[in-house]
Amino acid sequence: MKVHFKIKRFNPEKDKKPYWGEYDVEADESDRVLDALQTVKWDIDGTLNFRRSCAHGICGSDAMRINGRNALACKLLIRDAVQGGKITIEPILGLPVIKDLIVDMEPFFAHYRTVMPFLINNTTPGERERLQSPEDRERYDDSTKCILCACCTTSCPSFWARGDYVGPAAIVQAHRFIFDSRDQGAAERLKVLGEPDGVWRCRTVFNCTDVCPRDIQVTRVIGEVKAALITGKID
Ligand code: SF4
Ligand code: F3S
Ligand code: FES
Repeated sequence: MKVHFKIKRFNPEKDKKPYWGEYDVEADESDRVLDALQTVKWDIDGTLNFRRSCAHGICGSDAMRINGRNALACKLLIRDAVQGGKITIEPILGLPVIKDLIVDMEPFFAHYRTVMPFLINNTTPGERERLQSPEDRERYDDSTKCILCACCTTSCPSFWARGDYVGPAAIVQAHRFIFDSRDQGAAERLKVLGEPDGVWRCRTVFNCTDVCPRDIQVTRVIGEVKAALITGKID
């Protein structure tokens, strides 16, 4: 099938403002959107810029706004994306555009770092690894699936309105450690997330949950962190 792509282009070295690049691509309906983008780059216009690495939904590098909805280009099939023979692609919103579909991820990762996304345990390690029960492991299983693609944070209206909001991805990463029975850093993380730019900026819009390519129940995870802040209990 022939698909008409409209792709938002911007090269700060020569363009005064963004414009739409238009390309007709011959694609199979079972191709991924990433395949078509590669066809554009390799066969039609080599100046198109986008990030991708694994091409299998693991690295999280090819998040983009496809027909107005964030997705990983390597996971979305042409037949599920195409609308009236067309697919429109823009960079994810709320982060500075570097070139075409490539955004500066540093503000996103700066929020990630504030929640201390690593195990904190000040007791002396024993001879063996720190054990936990299958039930304790299950408690934070959902939040371990995050690949830091930023689809959630950059689809959140609270983040668009205020880039200082820590955002759903950072909260998911904090949840992964707060609810880990081996971790001792919950109080420190909850202090960060209880600040004005922490979890209370979430207005339960659910865009994050709708777009997460790992099907994480992001809004529920955020709700559990809010509940821990209100009750002072982690259970
Ligand atoms: Fe991506 Fe989901 Fe992680 Fe958000 S929670 S960064 S959408 S994998
Ligand atoms: Fe934003 Fe998700 Fe909350 S979209 S407002 S973080 S539920
Ligand atoms: Fe790695 Fe899409 S290229 S997730």
